[in-house]
Amino acid sequence: MKIEVGSEIEISFTLNGEAKTVSFDPRRSLADVVREDCGQTGTHLGCEHGVCGACTVLVDGAPSRSCLMLGAMADGREITTVEGLATDGVFNHVQQGMWDAMAFQCAFCSPGFIMSTMALLEENPNPTKDEIREELSGNLCRCTGYASIIDGVMAAIDNLGDAQ
Ligand code: FES
Ligand code: FES
Repeated sequence: MKIEVGSEIEISFTLNGEAKTVSFDPRRSLADVVREDCGQTGTHLGCEHGVCGACTVLVDGAPSRSCLMLGAMADGREITTVEGLATDGVFNHVQQGMWDAMAFQCAFCSPGFIMSTMALLEENPNPTKDEIREELSGNLCRCTGYASIIDGVMAAIDNLGDAQ
């Protein structure tokens, strides 16, 4: 693909189940495309260099740092952000679990933790607390001390069991 200086690229992808075609500066990150070009601001930007995990989204189901991905890399992919989890305003099992456990304080980190937990439970629906700590170790929270977040994941596991 040849890109002229100052030109835009156009990509098509699926965002939270909806087909999108957007044009943007090819230097934009996926986080910026999702937030600024698609208006889905639930994905948060903290460090913007791959450390905090606040920007985690699912790309074809895999947790990904959207601050480190170019938006162009989303072409043809399925992107899920925290906005894509609830159905008709009702939290899904992970959101509800976090809510019930009062897992967050300022909640800046919560979209990233929730998306990482979605990926974790998809891969391993019944993880131990140690496995949860290991899998979520790439997400940082400056408020909670993490114990309540682990409780939230355990509550999400219970919710998943209740729904089956
Ligand atoms: S904003 Fe992407 S990892 Fe921190
Ligand atoms: S609840 Fe504030 S950063 Fe996690």
